[in-house]
Amino acid sequence: MQPIILRSPRYDDQKITLPVEIADLSKPFNGSISSPKGDEYPVTRNIVRLLNGEIPKTTLAQDSNFIPLTAKGYEDFWRKSSIRSISGEDFTMGDEQNLLIEWLQVTPGELVLDLGTSTGLYPRTLFTSQPKARYVAIDLAMPMLREARSRAADEQCHVTWMEANAESLPFFAESVDAITCGGSLNEFYDPLKALFEARRVLRKGGAFFLMYLLEADTFVGKALQKASGIGGIKFWSKRASYKLFEQAGFTVECEKQLGIVQFVLLK
Ligand SMILES: C[S@@+](CC[C@H](N)C(=O)[O-])C[C@H]1O[C@@H](n2cnc3c(N)ncnc32)[C@H](O)[C@@H]1O
Repeated sequence: MQPIILRSPRYDDQKITLPVEIADLSKPFNGSISSPKGDEYPVTRNIVRLLNGEIPKTTLAQDSNFIPLTAKGYEDFWRKSSIRSISGEDFTMGDEQNLLIEWLQVTPGELVLDLGTSTGLYPRTLFTSQPKARYVAIDLAMPMLREARSRAADEQCHVTWMEANAESLPFFAESVDAITCGGSLNEFYDPLKALFEARRVLRKGGAFFLMYLLEADTFVGKALQKASGIGGIKFWSKRASYKLFEQAGFTVECEKQLGIVQFVLLK
């Protein structure tokens, strides 16, 4: 397997080559990585810490992900039934996982990046269907990344977990083969910046699988979203979201809408 090459968060022209063992979660990896210019980043139990304690400006919604109890309960108590509860349609987590595998068609050796991974559902799903690709998943919240690492280790999935910011990706232009992002676009502080970064690092012809929430059209839905907006969560009409994708340089190749839950494959 080829090693994953990062762009140094500090020096745009410097490479950092990740030891491939970091992704093997059966063996705890502790140490550090550095660029030739000497900027160094710790690796704690396989989690690469590129932020070095410098968490960017966050919203209230983002802050909730730093609570260890949120990370522990997130997948079992919320994620497993979230699409069905939010959309009101009979669409299980298994259906979502099948859609992800079918639309993305990951091939051996490819590098797949998950943005705002929380507990790593998407990379674990893809590893199970294509274990010969390379998976890297980022999040700002260490409690989420620790839970993601633990779940992936239990399921023997090889994934590289990184504390990094989706709005400033530590990758060179066109160095990633596919990108996934489940539900995080609504939570990013600056979603357009994250989309521009995704476009920059994704190779030409590479696919971007995105699940996000649209603006509600019912009175109760609108009221609930207004309350979430106070915490920093953003919602768009379908047209406004497509405009954002276009602005960032993407075109919509596939789409599926379930109530206010929208899936798109961007290229
Ligand atoms: C809705 S959850 C994501 C769920 C996950 N993708 C899934 O499919 O289950 C949003 C996640 O994005 C992370 N996040 C928010 N802003 C981020 C940013 N700028 N960079 C990286 N991760 C971010 C949060 O910490 C949180 O874990």
